[in-house]
Amino acid sequence: MQRIISPSMLSADFGHLERDTQLIDRSEAQWIHIDVMDGVFVPNISFGFPVMKAIRKATGKLLDVHLMIVEPEKYVARFAEAGAGIVTFHYEATSDPRGCIELIRRAGARAGISIKPATPAEVLRELLPELDLVLVMSVEPGFGGQSFMPESVDKVKALRAMIDACGSSAVIEVDGGISARNSRLLFDAGAEALVAGSAVFGAPDPEAEIVTMLRS
Ligand code: DX5
Ligand code: ZN
Repeated sequence: MQRIISPSMLSADFGHLERDTQLIDRSEAQWIHIDVMDGVFVPNISFGFPVMKAIRKATGKLLDVHLMIVEPEKYVARFAEAGAGIVTFHYEATSDPRGCIELIRRAGARAGISIKPATPAEVLRELLPELDLVLVMSVEPGFGGQSFMPESVDKVKALRAMIDACGSSAVIEVDGGISARNSRLLFDAGAEALVAGSAVFGAPDPEAEIVTMLRS
């Protein structure tokens, strides 16, 4: 199985966004995670299109966009058109997940769904064949720097079994409280992509930290 690290720009220094984006661009991280929060789906507001565009300009790497917004169907296509390689919306934020997936695909991006810690993996069973990515939240979405919820490991294992059983090629990504201390545990459980914000940008040597996680 592949191993992908997706550093979250939420923990970057926004006064030096180009510098921090280029730092990740030079690193072994394959994706760049973009957290979009609307202050309604989560109790925090992060950033939107202009900031994402600035990041897009500074790197050729795949932008892995995580939408923590209500009514994602209104915006998914715009994020794909703005240069997202993957657009992930929350299962809890829409009554029409299939419609969102179709809008993302039609706009030329890969489609992902995320579930919050309290949402069981089971809700995704019927959707798995249509998905490119499943994002398991291992903290309550809204803020960087929170502690990893260990029960997420069992959710990853359950999803791995469900994905393998139905022959889906969906990648399992995990987000929240991830560092070199738990990366191996998650890769072993069947995750293929790990998001890391504070662990990367808070490290004395972010590029080395990414390598440590990849080789854990
Ligand atoms: C939280 C975001 C995460 C966050 C991760 O709602 O979805 O991507 O930036 O940050 P860390 O790695 O610090 O938990
Ligand atoms: Zn995220």
